[in-house]
Amino acid sequence: MIDYKSLIASKINCPLPQADLVNLITETADDSFGDYSFPCFRLAKEMRMSPVAIAQKIAGEVVLDDVVVKVQPVNGYVNFFVDRVGAIKEVLSDVQSAGCHYGESNVGNGKTICIDYSSVNICKSFHIGHLSTTAIGSALYKLYTALGYKVVGINHLGDYGTQFGKMIVAFKLWGDRTTAEREGVKELQRLYVKFHQEEVEHPELTDQAREWFVRIEKGDAEAQELFEFFKQITLAEVKEIYKRLNVTFDSWNGESFFNDKMDKPLQMLKDKGLVTESQGAQVVDLSDHKMPPCLLVKSDGSSLYATRDIAAAVWRKQEYDFDKCLYVVAYQQNLHFKQFFKVLELADLPWAKDLVHVAYGMVSLEDGAMSTRKGNVVLLKDVIDKAVEKSMEIISSKNPDLPNKQTVAEQVGVGAVLFSALENAKIKDITFTFDRVLNFDGETAPYLQYTHARCNSILEKATNRGNADYNALDDIETMRLAKLIRQFPQAVVDSANKYEPSILSALLIDIAQAFNKFYIEHRVLTDDLGATSARLQVVEATEIVLKKGLSLLGIQAPEKM
Ligand code: ARG
Repeated sequence: MIDYKSLIASKINCPLPQADLVNLITETADDSFGDYSFPCFRLAKEMRMSPVAIAQKIAGEVVLDDVVVKVQPVNGYVNFFVDRVGAIKEVLSDVQSAGCHYGESNVGNGKTICIDYSSVNICKSFHIGHLSTTAIGSALYKLYTALGYKVVGINHLGDYGTQFGKMIVAFKLWGDRTTAEREGVKELQRLYVKFHQEEVEHPELTDQAREWFVRIEKGDAEAQELFEFFKQITLAEVKEIYKRLNVTFDSWNGESFFNDKMDKPLQMLKDKGLVTESQGAQVVDLSDHKMPPCLLVKSDGSSLYATRDIAAAVWRKQEYDFDKCLYVVAYQQNLHFKQFFKVLELADLPWAKDLVHVAYGMVSLEDGAMSTRKGNVVLLKDVIDKAVEKSMEIISSKNPDLPNKQTVAEQVGVGAVLFSALENAKIKDITFTFDRVLNFDGETAPYLQYTHARCNSILEKATNRGNADYNALDDIETMRLAKLIRQFPQAVVDSANKYEPSILSALLIDIAQAFNKFYIEHRVLTDDLGATSARLQVVEATEIVLKKGLSLLGIQAPEKM
């Protein structure tokens, strides 16, 4: 690929070093002012001239060639125009030669990234609060994989805690296996809610729950068996959803996996003099770092969420020797991650700096937030089902004769739901509305899928092709589209490095919009076979990039819609 910025920098005669020039050159926001722009303001002092005069001087000295074809000084900027057809041809050939691997690279070869994401809780429903971690984590998984990293996807199951003692008591009193197997997590939730209601009048239930919890911890056969039963019921449902979302994991080691792996790290922290006693509990004091203490062992001897996360981090480092370990978890847990990262840092573990909390904002539905205790949760499954159902309605009215309507509706509905968690900077709180995420003309997954399908249908209709006449592509719409496609590989890198799939989502929307403008302005299939063939290459490149981009976000691209 031509490195335009370096090439242009080499043509600028001024006292700044080449590297600085490259950094100062930007792509112009308004392409009527050229393709690249160099601001002269920083040079004014050194050259003892006004920026306007400097721009004129530099522009006058530029030697043009067949790549940089025009230069223009404008108000302290030097604007450069590159050869359009050459630039467009280059992008097309890059995409053609990479094909479905466009955007991939090997920058990550030899490096390992652990991604802790989705991390659902046993006996709790898979609700919309877990959508973002699932969608963002899975997209990061695919992005890093495309960049050549070895990626380990971890579902750090919430499968430990006193709530499982409560579940056993509730199940033994009011539940039965047949109902639980038939109704699934909904039934487990019903029992859990009932426990909390009954507990108010019958405090002895609390003691029984505590006893059952101790029995789980001690490995008592009956307790273990019941816990496994709850776990299987939950996982069966959750895996059904992962399958629909096209989300996978390499490890399901959750909190309970670390039951027997906490002593060593605890001892290590003690040996380093970090652990102090506070009201019978063992803590790491973090007051020097302006945080409340990190609680490691309660006065009754039981461990905590942080203890398990510390043990998990140590274990993952040993097991995978990661270069980075990401935790895709809501910002509500900011303090938890800051605390346990700090504890590991204070323990002088050099890799503590490689732990990253990838925080994201809350998703709510129009009718307000939700809470598990009260039982009024919004299930992710219900959201997906409704999105698929609505997609079906839209598709049926737009294209009643489409074959495999149900499959396409599933791909569109699921895509719309996933994209809603990937389209904005992840830290933003978002409100999910069906009408918005399913708007085929909006900034949505269905819009991308629809544009992709439109590309396919054009390609399908193309029967006659001649030798491409690239000069037919010498227009602003094609150039804009080509420039955006050119940004794709860098957007993949940036999305991964900044843990921000929305960089890629935004580019895909721009590409789809630019394609649709191109398509409105220029007839693709005409009698001019040279022009037709050249434009078909533009359509093909767009098709490849949209499909690849969607797949990196975990979204399918139906051939027809
Ligand atoms: N299960 C937790 C929750 O639903 C998320 C766990 C995140 N991962 C971790 N290693 N703490 O809130």
